[in-house]
Amino acid sequence: MTTFSFENKVAVITGAGIGIGFEIARQLALAGASVVLNDIDGELARKAANKIQAKGGKCLAIEGDSSDLVVIHTLVHKAIHEFGHLDFAIANAGITTFGNFLEYEQTSFERLVAVNLQGSFFLAQVAARQMVKQNSGGRILFMSSVTGHQVHPNLAAYGMTKAALEMLAKSLGVELAPHKITVNAIAPGATITERTLQLDPEYQKTWEGLTPTGKVATTSDIAHAALFFLSPASGQITGQSLIVDGGWTAVSPPPE
Ligand SMILES: NC(=O)c1ccc[n+]([C@@H]2O[C@H](COP(=O)([O-])OP(=O)(O)OC[C@H]3O[C@@H](n4cnc5c(N)ncnc54)[C@H](O)[C@@H]3O)[C@@H](O)[C@H]2O)c1
Repeated sequence: MTTFSFENKVAVITGAGIGIGFEIARQLALAGASVVLNDIDGELARKAANKIQAKGGKCLAIEGDSSDLVVIHTLVHKAIHEFGHLDFAIANAGITTFGNFLEYEQTSFERLVAVNLQGSFFLAQVAARQMVKQNSGGRILFMSSVTGHQVHPNLAAYGMTKAALEMLAKSLGVELAPHKITVNAIAPGATITERTLQLDPEYQKTWEGLTPTGKVATTSDIAHAALFFLSPASGQITGQSLIVDGGWTAVSPPPE
């Protein structure tokens, strides 16, 4: 389902070889945008870009770790070099490391903060500098999580990074408003992806039982929210977080 046109728009998106990021990239490209698609796994990135190109979308794959400032600069540079300008930055890459707080290791903490926060913060900064230079506005989108709102077992560190991203969206929403750049976050609840199905083959069944709508989100459900935030229809919305969870946070039952 594509209801918006993104002709002549240029996007960069991190962590988009599979999962939520891939679906956002796919829907954006099929709606006319040119997409610079990043993944730390080069083969996944190339396969993803090929799939989008095969459907007629404009998409370029860039391999690299989204927490690395050199990679972030490369993504923005490629967007300008290949497509002329930059309109959207989607900081989607995020890792989920489960762990009991009392045993959580410093190395896990540092990696989590590097990918989830440093990568998102500096993608927003490098993209915003370009958007300010262009003087044509823009959209920045962070990928949060319901765990940034509600406690989830063994996700203290992850939930902390996601809550921080939502505060970052608020701060930047204000700071970049004079430049006509909106900054928002999406907080998905349980979403069926290659990773979540691999973590738990019963994932869909488990979360259907815990979600008020009786349905687990698909990557398409999350992409629809993203396309709304990137579209002209959301121009007056900034500094906000949209929970897409079928009502789960209203009651928040945890899995067994
Ligand atoms: N799937 C869910 O249920 C869910 C729920 C809430 C929030 N989220 C958030 O949504 C975003 C996407 O989640 P997902 O489940 O689709 O992702 P995922 O775990 O399936 O990963 C998607 C891609 O990101 C890539 N990646 C990982 N680290 C990277 C890095 N440092 N640099 C570049 N690429 C990297 C992986 O190689 C993978 O191809 C994440 O920020 C995640 O925290 C997901």
